[in-house]
Amino acid sequence: RLKAKTFYICQQCGYQSLKWLGKCPDCGQWDVMVEERREPPTASRRGGAPQTTAPQRLSDVATTEEERCLCGLSELDRVLGGGVVPGSLVLIGGDPGIGKSTLLLQAVGSLASIGPVLYVTAEESARQVKMRGERLRVNAKDLFLVPETSLETILERVRELKPRFLVVDSIQTIFTGDLESAPGSVSQVRECAGRLMHLAKGQGVSTFITGHVTKDGAIAGPRMLEHMVDTVLYFEGDAGHPYRILRAVKNRFGSTNEIGVFEMKEGGLAEVPNPSELFLAERPEGAPGSVVVPTLEGSRPILVELQALVSVSTFGQPRRTAIGIDPNRVALLVAVLEKKVGLSMLSQDIFFNVAGGVRLSEPGADLGVIAALASSHLNRPVPGKLMLFGEVGLAGEVRAVSRPELRVREAARLGFDRCYLPAGCLKAVEAPPGMELRGVRSVEEALDEVF
Ligand code: TYD
Ligand code: MG
Repeated sequence: RLKAKTFYICQQCGYQSLKWLGKCPDCGQWDVMVEERREPPTASRRGGAPQTTAPQRLSDVATTEEERCLCGLSELDRVLGGGVVPGSLVLIGGDPGIGKSTLLLQAVGSLASIGPVLYVTAEESARQVKMRGERLRVNAKDLFLVPETSLETILERVRELKPRFLVVDSIQTIFTGDLESAPGSVSQVRECAGRLMHLAKGQGVSTFITGHVTKDGAIAGPRMLEHMVDTVLYFEGDAGHPYRILRAVKNRFGSTNEIGVFEMKEGGLAEVPNPSELFLAERPEGAPGSVVVPTLEGSRPILVELQALVSVSTFGQPRRTAIGIDPNRVALLVAVLEKKVGLSMLSQDIFFNVAGGVRLSEPGADLGVIAALASSHLNRPVPGKLMLFGEVGLAGEVRAVSRPELRVREAARLGFDRCYLPAGCLKAVEAPPGMELRGVRSVEEALDEVF
């Protein structure tokens, strides 16, 4: 048996080194290298001798469609790619308090009618989970709770109970006695996740693990686990808003970029089948600076409201703030407006906001950002039933974006009657009844038409 040796591991990115370093050479963070002991892997740690599998012809591999289990929350089922796959390992990441435990408790509440569920609560007591379950009206006979942080004990309980579904909440609070490092450290999180993966695949237990996104790097975050698990879902939202977006960033069993929208209510998470209506509900129609854009989240078009406030700066250095959108993107579009349209915003404060706590990550909103900025600057409202989309380039050109037909259809469904879109997209779209489509080639042309 090899002697255990110590090494240093970056708690931020997982970089390993034999000697201590003040700064991680990989991610460049200071004070993140922590000493950990490495134990050589033993057969018992790996869960017994590996099963040997003989090579098989590709054509001989059986392709029976995996039977999936629906968890009753259709938004979650959709993001998973059509339900829970047997033997899959799903990581749900997100900020503390965003609603990961709530989501999973609701999901396993109905999964328990398909097969026994073991819910490992490593952060809260069984009583706390029970109280939450009462609030969520989760009352399943085959839902078993175990407040436990030791991985070995958890595996023992799984062997006894033989659950069909397993929840480990959270991966950062459980630990294996085989490693000396503290729970939440890179080695612990990796090792525990690796052994849960082994369990999921070996025994066909569908496993969910939660992980808190960490900013300070003191605890190993879920990013590090992304390559190990089958599916990674991030639960996003703004603490001040009730809306939550569940986003698939990796999925071995379905499409990524799929999103699910929920609303956090008194009685738990409610599905939002029509997010556009929700995000536009409080729109101040006729107010300068407010513009609606159809953004595409995965295969799903969602209308969101953009708000810009451009006002004369009273300080020497004008302020620039953007929420829900990359501030660099806004700065770039401001520069295009200055250069191509001649709207001078140098001495102006610019505040930009995406309403409802939504985060935009797609260039299709560019033309809307331009219109919102111009609308506030000129103090002229954009007509209420008008919508626009398109990517904007540095020369002020409006470029084609993906799936224009989906965006236009969603706008028509919500009663919009005019849409400006990239001229390059016009051919691909058939105008829905009552909707007028106009192709634009440049920012100047779009703003001329709107104002
Ligand atoms: P939780 O699921 O504990 O978050 P996480 O596991 O991601 O840390 O969610 C906690 C928040 O959700 C808490 O601030 C209260 C809120 N909440 C509701 O608004 N309604 C509910 O029915 C429940 C259970 C929680
Ligand atoms: Mg929790």
